[in-house]
Amino acid sequence: MATIGIIYFSGTGTTRAVADYVESGVVEAGATPEVFAIAGSDISEGRWANDAVAQTLDDCDAIIFGSPTYMGSVSAQMKAFFDAMAPRWYTQTWNGKLAAAFTASSLAAGDKLNCLQDIHTFAMQMGMIWVGTGASFSAKLNPNGFYLGAGVTASAPDQISEMDGATAAFLGKRVSELANRLS
Ligand SMILES: Cc1cc2nc3c(=O)[nH]c(=O)nc-3n(C[C@H](O)[C@H](O)[C@H](O)COP(=O)(O)O)c2cc1C
Repeated sequence: MATIGIIYFSGTGTTRAVADYVESGVVEAGATPEVFAIAGSDISEGRWANDAVAQTLDDCDAIIFGSPTYMGSVSAQMKAFFDAMAPRWYTQTWNGKLAAAFTASSLAAGDKLNCLQDIHTFAMQMGMIWVGTGASFSAKLNPNGFYLGAGVTASAPDQISEMDGATAAFLGKRVSELANRLS
């Protein structure tokens, strides 16, 4: 069975709660989750560094990235993590690995799509293979129609709707089932 990395930043816990839903989908698919929060203490002078985390992600079959939408983009902490992957971009270490994304923000739109596109662009630079939500409104998922990744509307963990939580879990399951088939 596949190993699925989940790496996220969360300032006040919302994105962490979404990561929990994503992880539940990974477990439901029988894959093994490796979950990491981007810690501010791993960022020094604007640079993220944590070799143990990065090397564990190297060994994952897929990586699902999560960031709150801050000012319409990924959080600065997630960007610091992306920039720290430049040596892996140079060697294309993650080429062929599956990638997916989730975000949370207060407003229904809130420019979440731009945040998901930031993550998508990073994954494409890394040579990864993108997996969208595949989540249909007719299946009582994806209420706001985000297909690039899971887009959750909440300002706090207890505001996450049942449909948004189910969509995040669906994404984790979808990525894992695909990774299981490939691995
Ligand atoms: C610096 C900052 C910028 C934000 N920018 C946006 C935004 O562009 N759009 C939006 O809908 N919400 C925005 N919010 C609200 C957060 O996305 C929302 O509170 C989210 O749940 C925070 O997730 P977290 O607890 O994982 O950090 C912003 C919050 C902060 C602190």
